[in-house]
Amino acid sequence: MTTENTDTRGMDIEKMSISDMRIHAKRILSSEVWGHCMGIAESGTTYRRNFAAIERILFRQNILHGIKKVDTSTELFGQKVSTPLFIAPIGAFYMITDRAEHEVVEGAAQASTISFVSHAAKSSVEEYVTGNHSPLIWMGYLTRGEEEVYRIARQAEKLGYAAVGLTIDTIQSVKIGDHIPISSLGRPRRGFPVTPSHIERLKKEVTIPVVIKGIMSQEDAKEAVRAGADAVVVSNHGGRLLDYTQSAIEVLPEVLEAVGKEVDVLIDGGFRRGTDALKALAMGAKAVLIGRPVFWGVAVAGAPGVSRVIQLLTDELKRAMIFTGVGDLHSLNKDILIMNEGK
Ligand SMILES: Cc1cc2nc3c(=O)[nH]c(=O)nc-3n(C[C@H](O)[C@H](O)[C@H](O)COP(=O)(O)O)c2cc1C
Repeated sequence: MTTENTDTRGMDIEKMSISDMRIHAKRILSSEVWGHCMGIAESGTTYRRNFAAIERILFRQNILHGIKKVDTSTELFGQKVSTPLFIAPIGAFYMITDRAEHEVVEGAAQASTISFVSHAAKSSVEEYVTGNHSPLIWMGYLTRGEEEVYRIARQAEKLGYAAVGLTIDTIQSVKIGDHIPISSLGRPRRGFPVTPSHIERLKKEVTIPVVIKGIMSQEDAKEAVRAGADAVVVSNHGGRLLDYTQSAIEVLPEVLEAVGKEVDVLIDGGFRRGTDALKALAMGAKAVLIGRPVFWGVAVAGAPGVSRVIQLLTDELKRAMIFTGVGDLHSLNKDILIMNEGK
């Protein structure tokens, strides 16, 4: 993992923790942009539950094993990377600066990880591949037009994207508190009634793998895989859609049980530490997507900020792997966990 931790915005990023970045991002971003990044639907119960459920899982510490170094390298769809902590698709990076979208994929490349990029981004799929960038997975929104999704997915395949996919959970719009925000197209957001036929159609349009994000039940997981999904992301969109759902990590076991032998299962929602990620990885997740912390990192220091976020989380992951006696991700399993006994 290489990191050029140069100071781009007057901050010594090398000395900052992720919580320092959060505090500084809040200071420098307008209240509108900060409010959008941190926004959660209605009462915020789903958002808080993402953290609470992770906190309830504890580790079994194991010391007498002599492991000194751990290997966090992994591979998805033929892309070999140094960490299983990937960049979640966030359509709102453009709100920070015109450069932010590119800085995210550049920072991801510096950290040797994979970036999911959103259909709601301002950058086109072509623009994302100019300059230094990590392996990319493009995530379409059917709300922006069905034919447009298939057209861009075909383009992404030609441009060398590792995979394409659909974010299916916006069958109703994102909600920030009591309000529906304006979309990046400057119009009111709307939902889209997605069905398995949309996944089947996308599978026919491309030969690269298809990822389906926004799975919160074993029924949807099975349907998505039956329709052709090559991987699924367990996600409640960081608590921005339906309030009072389970947390993503609570749903992970049933999704793994339903489809985990056939496809890779990824997860996001509330992962703020390497220890948090280790819990999902030990349960069987292939990778953990990081959402808002990447927003803070890019806001504070551009590409080096993004790289630093992934590196800090990966360092914490490695440290926790040593404490639990795990040398690499292949040897990881849920024996290191004690479920539902934390606070
Ligand atoms: C500001 C913001 C914008 C987002 N935009 C998208 C998007 O365009 N497409 C998508 O699939 N998910 C989007 N998400 C959801 C993230 O991909 C991810 O599921 C969520 O942020 C994970 O939770 P975390 O922020 O607690 O890590 C967005 C989230 C935030 C906070």
